[in-house]
Amino acid sequence: MAKTLILYYSRTGTTAIFAEAMTEVLNADIAEIKCHRYDPGWFRYLLAGYDSVKGRLPSVDSPEIDLDNYDLVILGAPIWTSYPALPLRSYLSRNPNLPDRVALFLTYGGHSVPEKAVKIVDDLLQSNLVATLALPQDKVTGDDFSEELDAFISRLNVIA
Ligand SMILES: Cc1cc2nc3c(=O)[nH]c(=O)nc-3n(C[C@H](O)[C@H](O)[C@H](O)COP(=O)(O)O)c2cc1C
Repeated sequence: MAKTLILYYSRTGTTAIFAEAMTEVLNADIAEIKCHRYDPGWFRYLLAGYDSVKGRLPSVDSPEIDLDNYDLVILGAPIWTSYPALPLRSYLSRNPNLPDRVALFLTYGGHSVPEKAVKIVDDLLQSNLVATLALPQDKVTGDDFSEELDAFISRLNVIA
């Protein structure tokens, strides 16, 4: 039976809300990429922005998961300075053994053009993304994303 993994990074919980909602609908597995360098607080917020502009990749704690067990991996992250958040970029730069089918969702404050961040992830992968979604933060925190979630899931071609 096809297995799906949702693998995400979230600094302040927005991306995590969407990841968890999708996990429930898809009955998927879920795992988190962690990065303590950008823990809560203003200093670390500024550091995240500074590192992101400079493209300085942090070390991350990747979940211990056998990616060979999955047919589809759905990556999730916030947008930082118009790029995918650095912890996801770090994770992908290690060339993880992702399956052919990879999808992406991003959350963002609303002042970026998300296509740029999507293209960066697409370029980092060996295969093309099967589906993408970018959601403004207020939609996620306002629990106003059911249409987008349904549409995204239907583009994934999985039986939920
Ligand atoms: C360092 C940093 C840079 C950000 N840069 C952008 C940006 O360029 N464009 C945007 O729309 N939102 C930007 N945001 C807002 C986040 O994308 C948004 O709050 C996101 O939903 C947070 O997700 P999280 O709660 O899962 O960490 C930035 C946030 C941080 C911390």
